Amino acid sequence: MRYASITDRLSNLGSGKWAVHAAARAMAAAGTEIIELTIGEPDMPPDEALLAECARAMHAGRTRYSNGRGEPAVLKALTEKYRKRRADVTEKNILCFPGTQTALFAVMLGLVEAGDAVLVGDPLYATYEGVVASTGARIVPVPLHPEKRFHLQAADLERAITPECRVLLLNTPHNPTGAVLTAEEIAVIGAVCRRHDLWIVCDEVYEELIFGGEFASPFNDPDLAERTIVVSSISKSHAAPGFRSGWAAGPVEFCERLLPVSETMLFGVQPFISDMTAMAVSQRFDTAAVMRENYLRRARIVESALVGEPLLKTMMPEGGMFILVDVGATGLSGEAFAWALLTEQQVAVMPGSSFGEEARDFIRISLTVPDERLETAARRMAELARSLRAGEAKRA
Ligand SMILES: Cc1ncc(COP(=O)(O)O)c(C=O)c1O
Repeated sequence: MRYASITDRLSNLGSGKWAVHAAARAMAAAGTEIIELTIGEPDMPPDEALLAECARAMHAGRTRYSNGRGEPAVLKALTEKYRKRRADVTEKNILCFPGTQTALFAVMLGLVEAGDAVLVGDPLYATYEGVVASTGARIVPVPLHPEKRFHLQAADLERAITPECRVLLLNTPHNPTGAVLTAEEIAVIGAVCRRHDLWIVCDEVYEELIFGGEFASPFNDPDLAERTIVVSSISKSHAAPGFRSGWAAGPVEFCERLLPVSETMLFGVQPFISDMTAMAVSQRFDTAAVMRENYLRRARIVESALVGEPLLKTMMPEGGMFILVDVGATGLSGEAFAWALLTEQQVAVMPGSSFGEEARDFIRISLTVPDERLETAARRMAELARSLRAGEAKRA
C-alpha cells in the first residue's frame, strides 16, 4: 500500500535515540535491577487539590465537548499569567492544546512547510527533529558550546541563517543542557530575528524550574511581540504530564490563523482537565518549589560524587531536571559510555547523541530519582571511568 511521505520522514526518528532506555527496560523486565536515569518525569504527584478539582469537574458534568480555543476559565487564568509579562495580552493571544508537544506540532504546522527551514540550537530536545520534519521543513542546527554553558550565541545564530529560515525554535530553560537564557541574551537574539524576519517559537515548559536569577522570555519584549509564540504546559510546573494540558501564547493574528488548524486536529480540549489547569495556573502551589530544591540538590550530589574523577566533567544546570556529564576524556563517545554503564554497572542514562551532534561526548542524567539512588549511580559512573583509565594505562 502507499503511504504519505510524513511516515517516511518520521520513521527513523524514535528508536535509535531511545535504544539504551529500551534495553534497560528489557533488562529490568528480565529481573536485573537497573537504576534508570533516562526519561525526565517528575517524581512527585500533582497537588491533591488539583486531583480533587479534576474529579469534581468530571462529576459535575464537565465531560462534554469544548471549543477549539479553550475553556473560558483556563483562558482567563492564562491571560492573567501572561499579562504579568506584557500588558497588552488578552484571551485572543491564547490557544489551548493537550501539552506542549501538541502545541509545538500545531504551531510548526502553521509556520513552515517543505522548502522552509527552522533554526534550532544543538543539542536539542529529542522530539524537535520530528516536529520540524513532520511539516516537511528541515532543521538548521546552531551549535551550542559547552564553554559558553550552552547558551545560544547571537553570532552563531546569524552565521547559520539561510534564506529558507523562517523560525528560530528556542528552549529556555533548556533540555538537555539546563541553560537558562538571560534577558540581555534574548535581546540580542531577538534583534537578529527582527533583522531576518524570523518567528521565535519559545518552548518554556521548564519556566518554573530555574535554580536562580530571573526567568526571561522573548514574549516579554514588546518589540518581539509580533513574532513570538510561547508554548508551555502544566506537565513540569505541576508534576502533571499525564494530564496533557498545555497552550500556545502568541500574536492575535497568529492565533486566529491557527485556530482552524487546532480545531481540525483536536475539536477542543477536555473541560474537566481545563478546570484543573485553570486552578493550577491561577493559584499558588508549592510543587515547583519542591522540585526545584530536589533537582538542584541532586545535581550537586552528582557533581560532588564525580568531582575527583578526572575523566568525567559535570556541567551544572541552571534549570530543568537533568545534568550533563562530559565523558569525552574517557576515550568513549557518550553513546559508548552509556552502553558500557548499562551493561557493566546497571545504570541507564541517555547518550548525548540522542540530543544532537554537539552533545555526542556527553551523557544526560535525569535528576528524578531519590538522592541515595542517584549517588549510587554517580559512584558507578566514576567506577566505570576508573576502569577505563586503568585499561588505558595497561595498554600504554
Ligand atoms: C523541552 C521540552 N519540551 C516539551 C516537552 C513536552 O512537554 P508536554 O508534556 O507539555 O507535552 C518536554 C518533555 O520532556 C521537554 O523536555
